[in-house]
Amino acid sequence: MMKVLVIGGGGREHAIVWKLSQSRHIDKIYCCPGNAGISELAECIDVDGDNFSSLVDFAKYEGIDMTIVGPEAPLSKGIVDMFEREGRKILGPNAKAAQLEGSKVFAKDIMRRYGIPTAEYKVFTSYIHAEDYVRMKGAPIVIKADGLAAGKGVIVAKTGDEAIDALRLIMKERAFGDAGNRVVVEECIEGEEASFMAFTDGETILPMVSSQDHKRIFDEDKGPNTGGMGAYSPAPVITDALESIIMEKIMAPVVKGMRAEGIKYKGILYAGVMIKNNQPYTLEFNCRLGDPETQPVISRLKTDLVDIALAIADEKLSKIKLEWESDASVCVVIASKGYPGPYEKGKVINGLNDVKKMSGVQVFHAGTAFTDEKIISSGGRVLGVTALGKDIRDAKNKAYEAIGKIHFEGMHYRKDIANRALVRLK
Ligand code: AMP
Ligand code: GLY
Repeated sequence: MMKVLVIGGGGREHAIVWKLSQSRHIDKIYCCPGNAGISELAECIDVDGDNFSSLVDFAKYEGIDMTIVGPEAPLSKGIVDMFEREGRKILGPNAKAAQLEGSKVFAKDIMRRYGIPTAEYKVFTSYIHAEDYVRMKGAPIVIKADGLAAGKGVIVAKTGDEAIDALRLIMKERAFGDAGNRVVVEECIEGEEASFMAFTDGETILPMVSSQDHKRIFDEDKGPNTGGMGAYSPAPVITDALESIIMEKIMAPVVKGMRAEGIKYKGILYAGVMIKNNQPYTLEFNCRLGDPETQPVISRLKTDLVDIALAIADEKLSKIKLEWESDASVCVVIASKGYPGPYEKGKVINGLNDVKKMSGVQVFHAGTAFTDEKIISSGGRVLGVTALGKDIRDAKNKAYEAIGKIHFEGMHYRKDIANRALVRLK
């Protein structure tokens, strides 16, 4: 029996902990820092998550057998390197491998070197040269800060002025600090976006079922970008034929290319793809599970997650066969008033116990906390109401039925999650 530590405290991590809690191997789950929902399944620990040596000490002291990392920041900062140096098993890429997400220039250069389909681009360190290039290319055009910028470093500019403003923001005003030392300027690709995630041990790559995120705050993809307001799986835009193409032209060459660079990529590889004329183009790589895509995807996973994590650590992933529920899954995120700007906190959440009585529905907590025996909101994205159903329509109806039972002051959510799939399935 095993003790597992999960790093993170959002909806993705609640889904990971929930899945782990069903594993035949689990003795105890710890989570750092966790949230109110996670604390029903795991012991939330009070260790500074940025202090990797404290985390390693905790893992040694408690005899943790496996650590699973949710977010990108600790991966980029080398949490995996630190745990592995101390001989402790951990799921995720090391710092060098995590550059695939941590540096857009690194990712684009890998894609160019290994012939992976992506938008045409150029890298700039000088504002003047970047501006000249943007003026020459015209709009629409995409401006990306090189480094991690909490999801805000990409600007899809519809006009030349917007593009120049973006360059100024990143390169002159240095809105994202050193993350803006270099800028990628790339061709804008119009199409339908999807998320494609896979497990890999650096050799074998096992694809997960496809999914689609909803990045904008309002219905019909209006308003500013968010961390993600909902997701569903499968994404009908990813046909079986496209899945094979993505595996062959994107996932396999990137893992092989990284190996050729002397970097073994182990953990989760996530490609954000744009489908145009039935061909996939890579918009970005992430070195972790998506949030909220994980909530519907993990809900469909039948294989024991601990078996997968161990197989990756031991580089025996070829021995695993992933099994998935044929049911579809839909996750609708409920956010606090004000999100994605400054938002309200501390609102009492009612109705969660009524949803617990529904079968096939899970409420994954993102920003929640406990006070005086009550669950309150404590983040921008608060809950991810996730339902399984015989098809997308059924799952969607169930998710919204569950939302009807939940209430906190100022809560808001999109009403159109998964509509794009429904249009395609008509
Ligand atoms: P990224 O962080 O690279 O995924 O970019 C954030 C979002 O910007 C993506 O999810 C897309 O919606 C959009 N995006 C990024 N690159 C492009 C591109 N080359 N063409 C069109 N949209 C893009
Ligand atoms: N939902 C998009 C991401 O996790 O990056």
